[in-house]
Amino acid sequence: MRSIYCGQIREAHVGHSVQLVGWVNRRRDLGGVIFVQLRDREGLVQVVFDPDLQEVFDKANSLRAEFCVQIEGVVRARPESQVNADMATGAVEVLGKQLTIINKALPLPIALDDHQKNSEEARLKYRYLDLRRPEMTERLIFRAKVTGFVRRYLEAQGFLDIETPILTKATPEGARDYLVPSRTHKGKFFALPQSPQLFKQLLMVAGMDRYYQIVKCFRDEDLRADRQPEFTQIDIETSFLTAPEVRAITEGLVTELFEEMLGVKFDAFPTMTYLEAMTRFGSDKPDLRNPLEIVDVADLLAHVEFKVFNGPANDPKGRVAVIKVPGGASLSRKQLDDYQAFAGVYGAKGLPWLKVNDLSKGVEGLQSPILKFLDDQAIQGLLARLEVADGDLLLFGSDSYKVCTDALGALRLKLGEDLGFTRTEEWAPLWVVDFPMFEEDEGRLYALHHPFTAPLNASPEQLTADPLSTISNAYDMVLNGVELGGGSVRIHDNAMQQAVFKLLGISSEEAEEKFGFLLEALQYGAPVHAGLAFGLDRLVMLMTGASSIRDVMAFPKTTTAACPLTEAPSFANPQALEELSLAVKKTDA
Ligand code: AMO
Ligand code: AMP
Repeated sequence: MRSIYCGQIREAHVGHSVQLVGWVNRRRDLGGVIFVQLRDREGLVQVVFDPDLQEVFDKANSLRAEFCVQIEGVVRARPESQVNADMATGAVEVLGKQLTIINKALPLPIALDDHQKNSEEARLKYRYLDLRRPEMTERLIFRAKVTGFVRRYLEAQGFLDIETPILTKATPEGARDYLVPSRTHKGKFFALPQSPQLFKQLLMVAGMDRYYQIVKCFRDEDLRADRQPEFTQIDIETSFLTAPEVRAITEGLVTELFEEMLGVKFDAFPTMTYLEAMTRFGSDKPDLRNPLEIVDVADLLAHVEFKVFNGPANDPKGRVAVIKVPGGASLSRKQLDDYQAFAGVYGAKGLPWLKVNDLSKGVEGLQSPILKFLDDQAIQGLLARLEVADGDLLLFGSDSYKVCTDALGALRLKLGEDLGFTRTEEWAPLWVVDFPMFEEDEGRLYALHHPFTAPLNASPEQLTADPLSTISNAYDMVLNGVELGGGSVRIHDNAMQQAVFKLLGISSEEAEEKFGFLLEALQYGAPVHAGLAFGLDRLVMLMTGASSIRDVMAFPKTTTAACPLTEAPSFANPQALEELSLAVKKTDA
């Protein structure tokens, strides 16, 4: 039915007869001539229907937006005055000779030309129409090119694409599981994998050496712009490679991908420790395009007569720190109040500020609600450490380490964006390494990565003696403040794995019941192994400049984890529940 895609017609085709299929993007009648913009996956072309060809002209007159049609015609150059430099096919048009209406379209429920008018809900309900918008089509084409490139790169390096089960047992990655009831084992459930983590480790025990998979993962967690309940990982595992070797392969993948797809050249990625990232940027995924930094000042303020400062400054679990905002002295009272409210979301109980209006006037040139609490020594110390200049604003965080770090970390991002400090045209990749093995919350330990991550240099005994200061052999790849991927060297030793489970409060019975198969496998000559998984959706989101991963997925879910198109999830029919021996408690819905 087609000899060429609409979007691929160029001046070289002038004089050629073509057969096109596609959708009517727009129809205009101009001076007795009908112009139809025909659209397919590859782009748009203008088709002209001339009244000299009466029959086809009349048919063209009946065309409406989004009719699906076949057109036969001849490519010709556009008159000079009508060349459209913004369109890939803007130098040519097709003179329509024959027209077949394959299918009419009802008036559209969503606008395809100005999608701003459409709600997210409507876009998802009519996703098959929303995806006709060139912007969306192009993103899916881009995504397909990315996965094609990834496969070629990894296969060239000896990686095998091996599938792992979707109906399986819980693989913990910190979220809730999606459960699937079993009919043949009543009362029992499969869990959908949060990642193929355990299976890829078993594939290493099996001797596969280098595995990869572009694979769906399922996590029942609170959704955001960069989180979906069902998302795709580029999942990688290797045997007998060290952490730096795994990082070199995966950094090479991203570097070559960016060069191939975007013409962007990366230098070798900088590596930063978790501690440095938290200290300077208040985040384990720092956006290095933003020059603002957090500077510790507890030592300068420990002695002042202001409990907001001297409390945390003298508490080993406290933190007192400052962000210097160049030019920020011009912010209004209202703006400062708004930033205080923003910091409050992260638990900060205030946001003391200090404006440097005129350094030559000494203390007189400073302005701050807390000036009265600061003695000369504190003031001089602050001014020197922060290397202030006229017009600077200092914003103080003073609280527990976590609240201060989280609040200033978030504020740093917001200030960078609001005040234009963040160099949005740049790319800033880095590795974050040397994460702690665990973090503590209300007396319990949680794995910072997952429970299969090996410590960097510790025996099971050393780990157990001081779990909170043990560093893990894990690494995250961060790009522009987004965690693109994370991985680690794995525990390949049964005793170490048992020690970690124990520290996490998983009893040996529970460990046996949940992960017995892994613990057993580790005892049959398990190799040293390490890997990483990228979030494909996040990668494509960043590369295409989309603002949400939903915009690079064909059929994403809403923020309440539902699909407006299919209306999933839906109630199960009573017979199916009966077969599964399940009863549903009354719900409000
Ligand atoms: P992790 O949980 O860090 O590691 O996941 C790896 C990467 O997957 C992406 N990602 C998500 N993307 C969209 N929606 C989500 N809900 C979501 N959750 C995670 C992120 C993240 O960096 N098995 C380990 C990897 C390993 O150790 O090899 C794992 O799953 O980009
Ligand atoms: P006040 O003395 O209440 O006017 O507060 C002076 C400054 O200290 C204001 O900028 C407040 O935002 C800040 N502040 C007051 N209480 C706290 C607190 N508990 N934590 C952090 N900042 C505070």
